[in-house]
Amino acid sequence: MRCFLAVVTLLIASPCWSYDRTFIEGANNNLGEALQFLREYDNEASSMCTRVTEAQWLYATNITEQNRKRMVDALSLQAKLDRVSWQKVIQFSWSSLPDPMARRQLQMLALKGRAALPQEKQNELAKMVAEMKEIFNRARVCPFATSASSQCDLSLEPELTRIMAHSRSYEEQLHAWKTWRDATGPKLRSRFSRYVELANEAARLNGFRDAGEQERAAYGVDDFQSQISEVWSSLAPLYRQLHAYVRSRLRKHYAIPHRLGPTAPIPAQLLGNMWGQNWKNILDLVLPYPGKRRADVTSEMLRQGFTPLRMIQISEEFFTSLGLKPMPVDFWHKSLLERPTDRHVACKASAWDFCNRRDYRIKQCTEVAMDDLQTTHHEMTHIEYYLHYADLPYVFRDGANPAFHEAVADAVSLSVTTPKHMHRIGLLNNITDDYETDINFLLEMALDKVAYLPFAFIVDQWRWQVFSEGTRNMNTAWWELRSYHQGLLPPVARSEDDFDPGSKYHIISDQPYIRYFISLVLQFQIHQALCTAAGHVGTLHTCDIYRSREAGRVLSDIMSVGASRPWTEVLRVATKGSASGLDARPMLEYFKPLSLWLRVQNRDERMIGWVTTDQDTALYEQWSRGSASKSISHLLSWAAPIITIASSYTIIR
Ligand SMILES: *[C@@H]1O[C@H](CO)[C@@H](O)[C@H](O)[C@H]1NC(C)=O
Ligand SMILES: *[C@@H]1O[C@H](CO)[C@@H](O)[C@H](O)[C@H]1NC(C)=O
Ligand SMILES: [Zn+2]
Repeated sequence: MRCFLAVVTLLIASPCWSYDRTFIEGANNNLGEALQFLREYDNEASSMCTRVTEAQWLYATNITEQNRKRMVDALSLQAKLDRVSWQKVIQFSWSSLPDPMARRQLQMLALKGRAALPQEKQNELAKMVAEMKEIFNRARVCPFATSASSQCDLSLEPELTRIMAHSRSYEEQLHAWKTWRDATGPKLRSRFSRYVELANEAARLNGFRDAGEQERAAYGVDDFQSQISEVWSSLAPLYRQLHAYVRSRLRKHYAIPHRLGPTAPIPAQLLGNMWGQNWKNILDLVLPYPGKRRADVTSEMLRQGFTPLRMIQISEEFFTSLGLKPMPVDFWHKSLLERPTDRHVACKASAWDFCNRRDYRIKQCTEVAMDDLQTTHHEMTHIEYYLHYADLPYVFRDGANPAFHEAVADAVSLSVTTPKHMHRIGLLNNITDDYETDINFLLEMALDKVAYLPFAFIVDQWRWQVFSEGTRNMNTAWWELRSYHQGLLPPVARSEDDFDPGSKYHIISDQPYIRYFISLVLQFQIHQALCTAAGHVGTLHTCDIYRSREAGRVLSDIMSVGASRPWTEVLRVATKGSASGLDARPMLEYFKPLSLWLRVQNRDERMIGWVTTDQDTALYEQWSRGSASKSISHLLSWAAPIITIASSYTIIR
């Protein structure tokens, strides 16, 4: 294992990965000075964080131009502090400091961010991203049925999202799908290319090969790429069963044999979501046993006179029943739990840490409904996380890796979602635990989580490929991944004048995405660990950890260490040694009853999986580049070492 240092070239053992890399490091190895710097940084960064978070809260709960300006000002002060701090960090020869906690903090500060870029390029990068967001947010499209009076003012939220979710007209969905991409992609493309150059330059200055490698370094695992590819290959058979079942139902509903054959990829606009990433909006088309719909406890909540405050109190009682912390005083005074009538607010539910060990809040426009009750539990898990790591230094007040916060919150939701839990909190009289109700429940969960796996996987596969190989043919590369992993096709021809990845906000707003894939898998690992601790017997999807002090201890162990330990170690502790990396098996176990059911349903299908014909690939490949399978195996030589040829993805019966 070797590390080349920019200033001093050394051979050292522990704090680096096993590939060669050039860190920016200085010569100062005075531990006392390093600790002094960290103390000062901790104070400054914490109060800056408080200031920025207050400004962000003010804006999110009262959207005015004045509040936006204040927020932007605070953010630019924070960027200034980040830059100055980075300059100080790299004066230290941090990788050779004897104190492991100091070393870890300095390493985290040194290797993330874009502070290595010269000032004017940093500004340009920030400007590119801001312009892309602006284009995205301002994009408007015309309605499907135009009349003389109709205005072209539909935006992604809420109109287009609603059409994708609820329209059952092939042409109307196609219209929404295509016009959204027309309104965004072409304007974003050149700015995105410049963004790629600048992000790569920042990463290279910081000792990485490219910006993708920098993003992956946040996980601190040697063979990260092959680990995640392996996990996806283990889950792909389950996805293909779901895909085959849904395709067969869609074929019945739309009766379009020429557009959706029994072995074809699915047209991307038919799945109830703008990116085909989450399929729960088409539950009505695919529900296995319509006579056994999941009991919706909303009416019972209304009957019992629930209020948003009561829902928050019930969530708090969930956590105290596990032996975890009650919400602090400021939480009750300062949270926003209902949509105010006197101002415009951003209603998306979120949990806030004001970085002063006192002030924590939830913002949620809570409606008295079952989904919202699950959301209050989810958001409060984030608050519990904040409370548990509050005493750590600022740098460590975060999840164990970029996916952990979300994975823990979703793991808690897996308990709260069960009919058993609804029964225990008095919202459901009868738990009907018959087979058909179970399958309905699991299928609904699968539309949410299994369907999302390949999309969550490919977004950064694509982005990392662009970072490492450049922006040529990037729309084709996107569709190669979409068709290969998701089994989806564009409903109309695409070209390199289009920029379909730009239809997704995370891509143009510079937000890493692989965390969503990791979190999908990790939440089932955590759920299983909690259920084992709680002494749960029976199938994993029926487990509810409510009132289990033992499960509470596992959660507390995970949350208290924040980001101060490697996540692999946190996982090892949580699972009592049974896992120290990403593992597909708990997710497979959770969905096992469904997986067996799908196999039976699909037994007459001609194919589990899909064949991409030349005609299909002609939709997105403008250039004749040899056979489709050749280009795919070329593509996958970097993406998925496990799966090397296209045919391994299809099982022809
Ligand atoms: C919203 O912010 C504006 C400042 O932009 C302020 O004047 C107004 O009082 C605020 N409204 C509320 C309800 O806080
Ligand atoms: C419980 O089940 C019984 C019998 O199936 C039914 O009559 C009753 O209405 C159910 N109660 C609730 C609250 O769903
Ligand atoms: Zn969350």
